[in-house]
Amino acid sequence: MASCRAFGFQNVYQQNNVTSIRCSSLAAVSKKNYNIALLPGDGIGPEVISVAKNVLNLAGSIEGIEFKFNEKLVGGAALDAVGVPLPEDTLTAVKQSDAILFGAIGGDATDTNQRHADIGIALLQLREGLKVFANLRPVSVLPQLVDASTLKKEVIEGVDLMVIRELTGGIYFGKPKGFGTNENGEEIGFNTEVYAAYEIDRIARIAFETARKRRGKLCSVDKANVLEASMLWRKRVMAIAEEYPDVELSHMYVDNAAMQLVRNPKQFDTIVTNNIFGDILSDQASMLTGSLGMLPSASLSESGPGLFEPIHGSAPDIAGQDKANPLATILSAAMLLKYGLGEVKAAERIELAVLDTLNRGFRTGDIWSAGNLLLNKLEITHEPNQYIHMQKLVGCKEIGEEVLKSVDTKTPASSSAP
Ligand SMILES: NC(=O)c1ccc[n+]([C@@H]2O[C@H](COP(=O)([O-])OP(=O)(O)OC[C@H]3O[C@@H](n4cnc5c(N)ncnc54)[C@H](O)[C@@H]3O)[C@@H](O)[C@H]2O)c1
Repeated sequence: MASCRAFGFQNVYQQNNVTSIRCSSLAAVSKKNYNIALLPGDGIGPEVISVAKNVLNLAGSIEGIEFKFNEKLVGGAALDAVGVPLPEDTLTAVKQSDAILFGAIGGDATDTNQRHADIGIALLQLREGLKVFANLRPVSVLPQLVDASTLKKEVIEGVDLMVIRELTGGIYFGKPKGFGTNENGEEIGFNTEVYAAYEIDRIARIAFETARKRRGKLCSVDKANVLEASMLWRKRVMAIAEEYPDVELSHMYVDNAAMQLVRNPKQFDTIVTNNIFGDILSDQASMLTGSLGMLPSASLSESGPGLFEPIHGSAPDIAGQDKANPLATILSAAMLLKYGLGEVKAAERIELAVLDTLNRGFRTGDIWSAGNLLLNKLEITHEPNQYIHMQKLVGCKEIGEEVLKSVDTKTPASSSAP
């Protein structure tokens, strides 16, 4: 059965010194009509967004929710059309929306470094504009996909962790940054890793609250043996820990954390870390599940609309070929419902539909196990644990249609609750 816990989803936020569970507080003002800003972006972005939009629409309509979608340009698509990667019109629309569903942005191998940089700026500007400082990335190894991972089954079976990444500070935003010349006349490039205490405190509180709702263990990842910004990070996390005596706090250097994530990922419950370490570790953690194409994320601010997106990029190598796995985007739509709008039942309907689709054997190429016994031939079996041998390789559109069928037929447990 799918549920918040099945995907390890949790969410909290801090406002006026009162920490709340966002999804339940928003549920109280659930209005059933929502404006959703859709930003498909580039590469496989439009393919996965189109599928996720249909799933969101159907799950919503079954639960009596109406969506008004406002599709806007971002990334390379915007750069080509209007000369900037994040047009003013797009930023205004996202700020006025109830939540944002984002695909991916990025150029391809033929693009210059400058074009890659110009496009990449859009996402940073968007996060900054929306003030979404907390990025939640649940990583759960689903039993249906244990064989899709490159790691040994006994290492990854049962992994259920949450990476919480600080998203609007640190080296990606720190100043000074730029290019220059050193004392030997050589060209240099430089960036600044900088954190203020309040930035660490607010992400730490989100992490402690999240850990408290999970298994009560929080690991803070830093590089406090070398970096001053990490020394302050550790000091502030330890100070905030005094507010959460029930949560077991540990600290780990980022190099060790990278190693431990593949050696023994089950030791982790909730991980909190800065922007750049979180960027790298969450991609690494994603491979525990077998594919970037499975992982959703939520980026939340203190009060404005949340940004929901798959963690993968625009995948130019498979764009336009109907090969993309849309499940990460579909699961991001479920996070949008749950954490952005407080529509928990509709969210669970989608989560359940994804599990059901996988149980019925449908796989895109990235999660399809090579050596499958019945290649391209779907057979339904009632034998438990047999589904991994009964896979059908399908494209983005077809797996989307199968998810729609499951959305229609599967009822979340909470729907039947009194
Ligand atoms: N949030 C974002 O928009 C975002 C994130 C990361 C990278 N990017 C951009 O995307 C472009 C490509 O970057 P990259 O190749 O390093 O990362 P990527 O995530 O686009 O692709 C990495 C690999 O994973 C595969 N892959 C990714 N998503 C998949 C999916 N849904 N289904 C099946 N396979 C999938 C790709 O085919 C590729 O082989 C770059 O321009 C980069 O800057 C954007």
